[in-house]
Amino acid sequence: MFLDRIKPLDAILATAQKKSLHRSLGWFQLMLFGIGCVIGTGIFVLTAAGAQKAGPGLMLAFAIAGAVCIVAALCYAEIASMIPVAGSAYTYSYATMGEFLAWTVGWALIMEYAIAAAAVSVGWSGYFSGTFLNELLGVQLPPWLAAGPLALGGAPGGLINLPALVIALLVTALLVVGTSESAKFNAILVAIKVAALTIFVGLTLSSPSFDTANFNPFLPAGIFGGWGTGVGAVGAAATIFFAYVGFDAVSTAAEETKNPQRNVPIGLVGSLLFCTVFYILVAAGAVGTIGGQPIMGPGGVPFPAGSEELARQCAMAEHAQALVCSNEALAHVLRQIGFSGVGNMLGIAAFLALPSVILVLIFGQTRIFFVMARDGLLPEKLSTVHPKFKTPHIVTLMTGGVVALGAAFFPVGKLADISNAGTLYAFMMVAIAVLILRTRDPERKRAFRVPVVWVVAPLTVIGCLFLFLNLPIDAMLFLPGWGVIGIVIYLLYSRRSSHLGRGIVEVVDDVAGEETQIPIHPPGN
Ligand code: ALA
Repeated sequence: MFLDRIKPLDAILATAQKKSLHRSLGWFQLMLFGIGCVIGTGIFVLTAAGAQKAGPGLMLAFAIAGAVCIVAALCYAEIASMIPVAGSAYTYSYATMGEFLAWTVGWALIMEYAIAAAAVSVGWSGYFSGTFLNELLGVQLPPWLAAGPLALGGAPGGLINLPALVIALLVTALLVVGTSESAKFNAILVAIKVAALTIFVGLTLSSPSFDTANFNPFLPAGIFGGWGTGVGAVGAAATIFFAYVGFDAVSTAAEETKNPQRNVPIGLVGSLLFCTVFYILVAAGAVGTIGGQPIMGPGGVPFPAGSEELARQCAMAEHAQALVCSNEALAHVLRQIGFSGVGNMLGIAAFLALPSVILVLIFGQTRIFFVMARDGLLPEKLSTVHPKFKTPHIVTLMTGGVVALGAAFFPVGKLADISNAGTLYAFMMVAIAVLILRTRDPERKRAFRVPVVWVVAPLTVIGCLFLFLNLPIDAMLFLPGWGVIGIVIYLLYSRRSSHLGRGIVEVVDDVAGEETQIPIHPPGN
């Protein structure tokens, strides 16, 4: 009963044709777009959490997470060049695995986008308080306004992360009035981020403080820290996977790409390869200069990142300067090795560039909600477009409100882990969708075909499951818990109100676009 209601691919493709955007993007623009979405809190902030889990093995962690993302990106490239419409993994699943599983993917994407936006807001807050307020203006925010409560993994004395709450609300307000990032603006921000990271790599790797002894032991918590513990090199890989999240946004631009067969895979895989190499060099520079050994708890197991115990340890003078305790890891490293001014400039680069990552993520979330509402799986009221701003303001405000609450009370590491759990599920489903379409519809035109798909797609599924199983247990359990809530909503509301279930398929893709309804034969219940 639950695997029926597959949305006809032809109806989805008619949507794309109707939209028929001008094909103007080349691989370089796609790469810039990808790098703009990807480089953010993961590298600027979670480097500290990653080092707490793996020590110098963080470098290996970046390589593992990057490899999983690259095989997933190939799957995205095939399906996006075949079904180039809004809704990404949710739409691909609707066309292959049916409404119920598509609903679970859409539901999991809320974890990918909204919770990731909250995580990036908290990451931004670290640089805002540390570099902008403290280093540049000499103002110290009271602890109760600078972090969530300790009980939730915040800092001692923390109550609410006010800067994170405010930035999430500001970005939401920009989206309501219709701000979208222009390609030029994105290119400037990418240049700022890449310049900051290049300077970081150059200064740290050539610094007299760089000492290979800092890499010893390389794997203080082993490769596998044990299922559910979230430590060891693979535990760190599961967390810093967050540093690659967002590349899938490139796939949504497939329809606007010239020669997509060549440019979509180059854009997706190229931006990921670029980031992987950079991230490994950044990790090497950070650990090689100031060291990155974890703070060990009882039994020689690192204290969990984002835990109350670790926050208490970090509050002690002996750990005050540790990489694993910093809220603005990269600026902190530069200050420690005598480049305070450059460290502050890097902090300002993060301060300027991270809000655009929040913007892309909240925007992505509203588009997915919008498509789900248009399919009748969420109340149609959510897809109401503002008469003046022409934006889906209701869904944007709701999303922004939830993001702001998450950002205000939870620590960055926990939010990132939860976001990763949802993202890994969506990536896995995309790989399965590619295989289903190859079997079910082998003759259909594909602008790009994954080479050795029966190896690459199963590797993606295995890689995603593997990283998922190496997340901390609470993040892992969040996914089924969230899934149960989603299934209850599906059964009580969405299944009945589904347009497909009621025999209607819309052919429209633009937020402010007109709509055509095609009655189809109801596929039954
Ligand atoms: N990859 C993005 C970041 O690290 C979400 O901020």
